[in-house]
Amino acid sequence: LTSVRYPGVQRGSYSQLSDKHVQHFKSILPKERVITDEDDIAAHNVDWLGMVRGASQIVLKPKTTEEVSAILKYCNAENLAVCPQGGNTGLVGGSVPVFDEVVISTSLMNNIISLDELSGVLVCQAGCILENLDSYLSERGLMMPLDLGAKGTCQIGGNVSTNAGGIRLIRYGSLQGSVLGIEAVMADGEVIDCLSSLKKDNTGYHLKHLFIGSEGTLGIVTKVAIQCPPSPKAVNVAFLGLDTFDDVLRTFKEARSGLGEILSSCEMMDMLALDAATTNLNLQRPIGEFPFYMLIETSGSNGTHDEEKLTSFLEGLMGSGIIHDGTVASEPSRIKLMWKLREGITEGLLHDGYVFKYDISLPHNSFYAIIPELKTRLPAEKVGRICGYGHVGDGNLHLNITTPKFDPAVLKIVEPFVFEWTSKLKGSVSAEHGIGFKKTQYIHFSKSQSSLNLMKDIKKLMDPKGILNPYKVLPAQH
Ligand code: FAD
Ligand code: MLT
Ligand code: ZN
Repeated sequence: LTSVRYPGVQRGSYSQLSDKHVQHFKSILPKERVITDEDDIAAHNVDWLGMVRGASQIVLKPKTTEEVSAILKYCNAENLAVCPQGGNTGLVGGSVPVFDEVVISTSLMNNIISLDELSGVLVCQAGCILENLDSYLSERGLMMPLDLGAKGTCQIGGNVSTNAGGIRLIRYGSLQGSVLGIEAVMADGEVIDCLSSLKKDNTGYHLKHLFIGSEGTLGIVTKVAIQCPPSPKAVNVAFLGLDTFDDVLRTFKEARSGLGEILSSCEMMDMLALDAATTNLNLQRPIGEFPFYMLIETSGSNGTHDEEKLTSFLEGLMGSGIIHDGTVASEPSRIKLMWKLREGITEGLLHDGYVFKYDISLPHNSFYAIIPELKTRLPAEKVGRICGYGHVGDGNLHLNITTPKFDPAVLKIVEPFVFEWTSKLKGSVSAEHGIGFKKTQYIHFSKSQSSLNLMKDIKKLMDPKGILNPYKVLPAQH
């Protein structure tokens, strides 16, 4: 067996699923949680972008850590490969099987275990949906330290396993900081309990970091302890129009110094990126047409203080001619509409046809230059749009190229060019989406050979048979 879209990828020498295996799974889980019906499995075999497709014949839905442990222990003994799956919103093909891996879905592991309202530490199972956690917390004056467009579907276990970034990272930092503890099940079924709820705990190696961002290749995350900040009392969003990318950078610099501790998001999108949301999703552009737009959010504890700061920041920018038009929202419904313009871009782009999706970290002074460069390299008649948006405050560009359908000629021009460009600038070929299945051949652009060797050794130690999410993260040969 070889993968259809990725012909170079060979199926590993894992066992084939048999009746005996299915019967055994039914002795671990109630039979309605052992899914073998082709129609019920279909959605688990294809990723959110509809670009990576596997052929699993079984989806298992455990509810407890003990069930995950029993499943993995058996799969390891039987040499059955598995694919851990959360909300299946991943953008690099990591969450779907490549061949016939057993899908282990965490969607029924959705219990909140505890919340310490004083410290803000939430402990929950991996399958809790991010937005549900945020709603639960907001009723108690707290919030999740991360937010992303997929919040209604993605799960905290998936977020941790991808080390998801998103639109609040600039304020609350990466999950490596806010995740205090993790419980995970190793390939052989052993449960690793590092579910500490302590903010400070320097007792030896910080094992939780092995699971944060390892995309299901070292273990299945079953529980998470996460530090949650208080919800803000005042939120404002400014949607701004700018003429040049230099003005975007000037605005970011001013936002950092002028808004300081209340800055909670600093996002940019170019004209064609915003157009993907407005035209393709039929949304209203809130200001006139500009080459660049920024969405700047403030969150604080004193509305009057925040408004004063925001007003003086915006007046300064207007006065110096850096921004020409803008609008500010403080009512939740308008704030939501403005965020929809930014968060809707991902879905809007899919309406163009095929999306070549890149998620790169770059130094600010070279952040946008790849877009005009690609416009000169790619024949205009072949592409729908070449656009850029992303978390400019975190140095993370989402470069997207759309075509009516998958076009190998476009791929040849774009890859490995984008990765070489990024590597020359000492950037990262995956800022926040991970390596998954789609980027394994490009990991070396951002990781040294010695780092890759150590990663391979860790993988061998923790999953000697390689049953956990094979074909993902690590390149087949390096
Ligand atoms: P899945 O997609 O199911 O899985 C992702 C990876 O984690 C896979 O490799 C899977 O095997 C593994 N995995 C899942 N659960 C577990 C577990 N419990 N234990 C071990 N491994 C597991 N990402 C960002 O970083 N920032 C963004 O701003 C952002 N915005 C997005 C917007 C949209 C509209 C969409 C569709 C996606 C976006 N993403 C973003 C990508 C995606 O939502 C994140 O990667 C998210 O964290 C994935 O969570 P999930 O539950 O859907 O995981
Ligand atoms: C975003 O910031 O919108 C997400 O990372 C998704 C994407 O890159 O399209
Ligand atoms: Zn993003």
